Amino acid sequence: MDFNKALILGIESSCDDTAASVLEINSKGSEIRSAIVHNQFNLHKEYGGVVPEIAARAHAELIDVVVEKALKSAKVVMADISAIGVTAGPGLIGGVLSGLMFAKGLSVSTNKPLIGVNHLAGHALTPRLTNKVAFPYLVLLVSGGHCQFLIVHSYKKYERLGGTIDDAPGEAFDKAARLLGLQQPGGPSIEEAAIKGDVSRFDLPRPLLDREDCNFSFSGLKTALMRKRNELTEKQGGLFEKDVCDLSASFQQAMHDVIIEKSVRAIDLYLKFTNGNQTFAIAGGVAANKKIRHSLKKICETKKVDFLAPPLELCTDNAAIIAYAAAERFFHGDYDDTTISARPRWPLDNQKPAILGSGKKGSKA
Ligand code: KG4
Ligand code: ZN
Repeated sequence: MDFNKALILGIESSCDDTAASVLEINSKGSEIRSAIVHNQFNLHKEYGGVVPEIAARAHAELIDVVVEKALKSAKVVMADISAIGVTAGPGLIGGVLSGLMFAKGLSVSTNKPLIGVNHLAGHALTPRLTNKVAFPYLVLLVSGGHCQFLIVHSYKKYERLGGTIDDAPGEAFDKAARLLGLQQPGGPSIEEAAIKGDVSRFDLPRPLLDREDCNFSFSGLKTALMRKRNELTEKQGGLFEKDVCDLSASFQQAMHDVIIEKSVRAIDLYLKFTNGNQTFAIAGGVAANKKIRHSLKKICETKKVDFLAPPLELCTDNAAIIAYAAAERFFHGDYDDTTISARPRWPLDNQKPAILGSGKKGSKA
């Protein structure tokens, strides 16, 4: 086997994106030959969250088309592929099953090795796909479905420093936007409204800042926002544009303050373990927030840690990151067989007790 060269087919279907990618690993590094993502946003938008049954059916209907598109756009055929990497969890079980069953069938019919990838490992290993970052590094996953700090010691050893005990931050932004009558996805809408808002008009809580650890809780913040909204609505009969902007600014500021303070703590813990090349990377849709991103960059400068924010299309759900996580295992001969099961929960760090955060996009680990 040539340890410098492989073409990996990646398949992702754990939430509301049906995705496939062909990733080439060569002596120069990684090259994404194709990355197809078909989002189901329109199928779920009238329900205010991802409906697992609808998601699973839509994945099952589209997965072969998306894989074919990925192969075609990479100008390869299955015979060229070295291995198939597929998300085997954690996520919405019906969706994971759709992808995994398809990948098992493809593996048997083409006689290609099958690698069942932990979706969170896909996110956590992205800094190696984009920048060949050396182990150990620190990652913060902040999206609509995930929220955790991980020290990535190797392709299979992860140490969780903290995570959410209820909502993920993207979920909190989405719920806040719904409360304020703003468009989904909520993060960009809140960010835009906040630009015109007065951040000091409302005092919203900063949950769990009084606790020394790196855990988050966002549901109390959302309830506090709802109370302020209800008070104003009762008094004035509704919300004026200024109220929406001021509430958005205060909400974003509270989210920012908690994420930044907990990141300072996580970086301090990480620095105790390491010397030499030190990197703090972010992943997930919330990483697009300019205020949060800017402050994370600043604290890294202060602490003399490299800050890495991969391109947004690799921070959000896609199959190139799944193919990359599979590639790391492929080069170690670490394969699965067709007995592998789909897992709704699959913590990366199995030394620590599970954090039972769960929400509209399924379980958090
Ligand atoms: O990683 P992602 O695309 O998908 C899933 O989690 O499935 O993250 C989407 C989340 C949404 O909840 C969205 O509101 C949030 O990321 N998001 C943002 C921003 N852009 C997207 N949150 C805050 N500020 C943003 N600019
Ligand atoms: Zn994800």
